[in-house]
Amino acid sequence: MSKKGIIDYYNDTVEQWTEQWYKDSTMLPFLKECKKILNDKIDVLDLGCNSGYETRRMKNIGLNPTGLDLSEKCIAIAKNKNRDIKFVHDNMLNDLSYLGKFDAVISIASIIHIKEDKLELCFKRIYDILNDSGYLFMVVRAEEGKLDASYKTFNNHEYDREIYGYNKELLERKMNNRFIFIKEMKAHDNHWKYYFYQKSTIN
Ligand SMILES: C[S@@+](CC[C@H](N)C(=O)[O-])C[C@H]1O[C@@H](n2cnc3c(N)ncnc32)[C@H](O)[C@@H]1O
Repeated sequence: MSKKGIIDYYNDTVEQWTEQWYKDSTMLPFLKECKKILNDKIDVLDLGCNSGYETRRMKNIGLNPTGLDLSEKCIAIAKNKNRDIKFVHDNMLNDLSYLGKFDAVISIASIIHIKEDKLELCFKRIYDILNDSGYLFMVVRAEEGKLDASYKTFNNHEYDREIYGYNKELLERKMNNRFIFIKEMKAHDNHWKYYFYQKSTIN
C-alpha cells in the first residue's frame, strides 16, 4: 500500500498538534528574539503555521502575523480559533505576491518539508515577499539528509511526511546571495537549529 504524503499527514493529525501546541510555549524565546530583531516592525508571515498556535503567540507578543499553510484542515482550525488573524491556504512554493510584503518570514519547522531541488525556489519566494532589509527567521533540523522521522504510522495509515535536514552551507548555497546571515540562537534541543537572516540588497 502506498504511503500518504505531507498534506494527508497534517490534515489527519491536526487535532493532536492543536491539542499539544496551543499549550506548549517552547518556541516563545525564539519568537521573542524575532520580535527584538524586528524592533518596531511588526508585519510577519508565519510560513507553515499548522493550526495557528505560534501565529497566536506572535500576535500576543505584539506582532501583526499572517499564517499560511498547505493543509486546508490546519487553516480551517487556525481561522476558527483566531478570528483576529488572517490565514491563507497555499503552498509556500507558489507565487505569494498577492499577500503583499512582510517585514519578516518566520518558518518554524516548515522549510524542513521542502526537497533539496525546490529549496532555491523556496528562498526566492520568501525573498520576493519581503520588504527591503526584511528578515528570514527559521527553525530547521540539525541532522542532514532525508530523516527517518519522515516515516510515521497514525491510525493504521503509513505516512511519508518528507522531513529533510540541511546544513548551513547548503541552505546558504540555495539562498544564492539573497540573504545575509545575522546569527544563530541556541535551540530548545539538539535536533533543531535557529537561524536568523536578513534580505540582501545586492541580489
Ligand atoms: C512540522 S509542522 C510545523 C508547524 C508549526 N510551524 C510549528 O511550529 O509547530 C510543518 C507545517 O508546515 C506545513 N507545510 C509543509 N509543506 C508546506 C508547503 N509547501 N507550503 C506551506 N506549508 C507547508 C505543514 O502543513 C505543517 O503544518
